[in-house]
Amino acid sequence: MENKHMLMIPGPTPVPEKVLLAMGKHPIGHRSSGFSEIIAEITENLKWLHQTKSDVLMLTVSGTGAMEAGIINFLSPGDRVLVGNNGKFGERWGKISRAFGLEVEEITAEWGKPLDSEAFRKKLEFDNQKHIKAVIITHSETSTGVINPLETINKYVKAHGEALIIVDAVTSLGAINVPVDDWGLDVVASGSQKGYMVPPGLGFVSVSQKAWEAYKTATLPKFYLDLGAYRKATNKNSSPFTPPVNLMYGLQVALQMMKDEGLEAMFTRHRRLTEATRAGVKALGLPLLADDEVASTAVTAVMSTGVTAEAIRSTIKKQFDISLAGGQDHLKGKIFRIGHLGFVSERDILTVIAALESTLIILGNQRATPGVGVAAASKILG
Ligand SMILES: Cc1ncc(COP(=O)(O)O)c(C=O)c1O
Repeated sequence: MENKHMLMIPGPTPVPEKVLLAMGKHPIGHRSSGFSEIIAEITENLKWLHQTKSDVLMLTVSGTGAMEAGIINFLSPGDRVLVGNNGKFGERWGKISRAFGLEVEEITAEWGKPLDSEAFRKKLEFDNQKHIKAVIITHSETSTGVINPLETINKYVKAHGEALIIVDAVTSLGAINVPVDDWGLDVVASGSQKGYMVPPGLGFVSVSQKAWEAYKTATLPKFYLDLGAYRKATNKNSSPFTPPVNLMYGLQVALQMMKDEGLEAMFTRHRRLTEATRAGVKALGLPLLADDEVASTAVTAVMSTGVTAEAIRSTIKKQFDISLAGGQDHLKGKIFRIGHLGFVSERDILTVIAALESTLIILGNQRATPGVGVAAASKILG
């Protein structure tokens, strides 16, 4: 049936009708006073979302562009950086850093496990000469559904004193607490197609005062992603280049929806949806990749048994028009991922668990009592 598609991947995420309609308006001039007012409102609300009084800058890029901006504005060739790598996006931080000639030391963990904060503590404590210029980590590792111990690692970064903490919060902003000022996070990168409930195309970078100090001496080349230019323009409620006017109409509405819900309520909703998803999947007899204590509230990675993850994904798509994400790299075919980030409700979770159960029955792989998945999810939500 047309127009019944259900998007349950960790990005792009579903977009509320209100946001879609807002984007359908005619564009206006990006240097007009009317558009300046929109930039002013968005900027204020981005600061609210990031829980910061410092700058949050908006770029016409995907999440990776925001990550790249987070590196090239604050570091210089040959700078030593400590990168956490326990999945596809931690690995990406390493790739970006190497591409720009940084000296990268990776702290790795198995995919599906969180980063070990002790490993960071040891490296940072040992660095008496203060050679480490940045610690770079992914908060919510979307490829595995693991949340990394950002708060603890950041404490060790603060004790070190010199290094900046640079964070990929692409699937954590809006889904879990990321109190930028309280924790003193220096650079936080995110993208519109995740918790923001807006289509892809906008990237965001928050920048602390300490990071701006580093900016003054950073010598990596930059032009389009020079955050100094964005700061200057944003302070005048403007943008250095032509921004995606219609996406920003959508963002204006989406941020207001987030404000109306409130930060705490938003985080609680994501936690409940995660718990219900995990309970439903477990009851269906499918193992989860990440342990409960380190589960991301954006996405749940499920291991397939008896039938491949790709068979589950293609059947649930064909039969129920529900899109789930697959595994990446060596996890391809072994896991599938259920996104529950952004504009997702309890009804969506019950639907996906029920459809998953029917899918397992169709594939002849149903070992649990029929209805048990929905019952377990409902118990959490009830
Ligand atoms: C944690 C994380 N970081 C970075 C990205 C990259 O974002 P993009 O594909 O928008 O460049 C994603 C996208 O899925 C992500 O989940």
